[in-house]
Amino acid sequence: MAHQSEQQGHAAHESTYRTTGPFTEWLDKRLPILRFANDTMMSFPTPRNLNYWWTFGGILTFCLAVQIVTGIILAMHYTPNADLAFGSVERIMRDVNYGWLLRYTHAVGASMFFLAVYVHIFRGLYYGSYKAPREILWMLGVVILLLMMATAFMGYVLPWGQMSFWAATVITNFFTAFPVVGKFITEWLWGGFAVGNATLNRFFSLHYLLPFVIVGVVALHVWALHVPGNNNPTGLDVKGKQDTLPFHPYYTVKDGFALVLFTIVFAWFVFFAPNSLGHPDNYIPANPLVTPPHIVPEWYFLPFYAILRSIPDKLLGVIAMFGSIVVLFLIPWLDTSKVRSMRYRPMMQWFFLFFVAACGVLMWCGANPPEGNFVLYARLATSYYFAYFLIIMPLVGMIEQPRKMPESIAKPVLPGGGGAMPARASAAPQTKG
Ligand code: HEM
Repeated sequence: MAHQSEQQGHAAHESTYRTTGPFTEWLDKRLPILRFANDTMMSFPTPRNLNYWWTFGGILTFCLAVQIVTGIILAMHYTPNADLAFGSVERIMRDVNYGWLLRYTHAVGASMFFLAVYVHIFRGLYYGSYKAPREILWMLGVVILLLMMATAFMGYVLPWGQMSFWAATVITNFFTAFPVVGKFITEWLWGGFAVGNATLNRFFSLHYLLPFVIVGVVALHVWALHVPGNNNPTGLDVKGKQDTLPFHPYYTVKDGFALVLFTIVFAWFVFFAPNSLGHPDNYIPANPLVTPPHIVPEWYFLPFYAILRSIPDKLLGVIAMFGSIVVLFLIPWLDTSKVRSMRYRPMMQWFFLFFVAACGVLMWCGANPPEGNFVLYARLATSYYFAYFLIIMPLVGMIEQPRKMPESIAKPVLPGGGGAMPARASAAPQTKG
């Protein structure tokens, strides 16, 4: 059994919790919550080689908390009514004490949340964190991403500006593309025959609800992380005690430091450029009779918007857009490589680099009108996006020759394979990359 838990990783480690007095002893026998907190957040054995890309999970937890706290206070002053919503947001900005700070933190916070989640996802893609035994962990992440997108979309509608109204109209209209049931679904979503007061009300209700659903899925996500334990930059399985460190203080301090840096960027946007990430048209009250010249989503939706528009057929465009996320569920099985981390996959590194570039191109195309060369670029980038997952991942995994891998996480770092700390990190060539 001991052997099996070793194989599973290091998550099922022995509890290191010690009660500190009669009260904690009493509590531990009834609700071992302190033991749980200690074993999952303090002594949890964590690979010793995690780099800064691994700090984004903690940063995301912080973002979620910020959105919930600021959102709850905003909701105390906001009015979800088509005639009053815009004015209530203006009142928050001008009359509510620190209302401007709450609103800007919430609005900029949404962008920071997406920035962090995209870094977190690209990290997972590069280091193969979705591969066995972390498939469920990954798929729960994709569920979180979908929930975040739904929440952000509905939140953007709430100020009831021009972009709010027209974004809601454009996005809900996608559903009319589905044959037979399309119109019915769309009117059911609207709660009427157009985007209106009923739509605003239900979007507010769901925008308030979904973050708590996200909290629930994040709990499952972290649970699924604690069963196999963290992946790491080498992608190697943890082989023994010499490969890990207790989470506290090593990673609490590292995560804390990264969080401080992240918060500085966050605060810079809030205090110096709070509207730079939004669209000025959203300061014009919603008007169903005037369509804005360019309806553009927030930056974090631009790549998906570009995929949608790159396909001339409406239904196929909608399918491609949703497909671009759904395909993420499949990648644990699309990736045929025996090696997890791209650090040892020289060929795949290039394809990954092009993939990141293709996402950038899609974002740029999504921000521009679908005319001239933008259409061509968006089509090329969309093709590459899908080819990366459906063709390149399965094929390259089969044909490429991975670089030589170290025997264990600690081996290339500690000469002699563990024990004492090294005088200096050995220059074993296979650890470079
Ligand atoms: C609210 C959003 C999210 C939160 C709060 C969150 C939280 C976390 C935390 C705390 C960790 C451990 C620390 C770390 O590895 O950075 C983690 C790991 C991980 N997350 Fe997330 N996550 C979120 C979204 C996502 C999404 C959208 C995906 C993928 C689609 C994802 C995939 C993963 C994977 C694969 C790991 C394991 C990393 C490894 O050990 O290599 N997460 N997450």
